[in-house]
Amino acid sequence: MTPPPHRDAGAGRPISRKSLLKAAVAAGAAVPLLSSGTRALARDSAGQGRPLSVTPACDDGDGPTHDQIEGPYFKPDSPLRTNLVDAGMPGTALTVSGYVFGRHCSPLAGVLLDFWQADDAGSYDMAGYTLRGHQFTDARGAFSLTTIVPGLYPGRTRHLHVKAQAPGGPVLTSQLYFPGEPRNATDALFDAALLMNVRGAGNGKEGTFDFVLDVDGTPGPGDPTDPPTDPPSGAWAPGRSYAVGDRVGYQGGTYRCVQAHTSMAGWEPPHVSALWRRE
Ligand SMILES: [Fe+2]
Repeated sequence: MTPPPHRDAGAGRPISRKSLLKAAVAAGAAVPLLSSGTRALARDSAGQGRPLSVTPACDDGDGPTHDQIEGPYFKPDSPLRTNLVDAGMPGTALTVSGYVFGRHCSPLAGVLLDFWQADDAGSYDMAGYTLRGHQFTDARGAFSLTTIVPGLYPGRTRHLHVKAQAPGGPVLTSQLYFPGEPRNATDALFDAALLMNVRGAGNGKEGTFDFVLDVDGTPGPGDPTDPPTDPPSGAWAPGRSYAVGDRVGYQGGTYRCVQAHTSMAGWEPPHVSALWRRE
């Protein structure tokens, strides 16, 4: 079944100044970009001594009461899994990965991330748990989700839903958006601060996003913002498998791997902030 449009995204709704600002941002007016053309991630600001801006909450506007702010399609008790793709499921492959930080730039381990989304045709599974799942960040505060690109449905731009909660902390209910979507400019719920970096990867897509939760957080071992104490592990080269924490040299700079990957020409460390952080 195709779900109805979310309530406050319907036609005829007065356009607020905030909506106009969002539309302007969606059109590319004010999105902070790195030189590589991607948005700055929280990890790029971590370690600079300034508190991070928390990830905005974003609700579907469907709920007249506070406990429904996640919209009409959330279901509790999703399965524990990082891969939401069932065999034969249509759609474009998508991985989303990143870190969860506290306000003070420390990665947070054990954060609950609960994702839910529409299928390739824009429908939510309300009978079962298709395209729903929760996971926990690892000791480095990292997460990785394997899924498909959600389909469009009336009234909304393309989005993933997520709830994020540090142990003992408040629940952040939010949504993640895709750059370059025409409907970003007209969806009143769209927030440019919730855009992922997305790039093509084979026949699929890879998205990255760092959450910042409104909790203090405590630095721990494996903290990617820790000062480096180990020597560089050699010069960067294409065709190598790099793990999170690996350090390489490239054109006089030293970089630390922030996302496991196999290197290739075009992904030199200065060009891919999603993979390498300069030290
Ligand atoms: Fe939705």
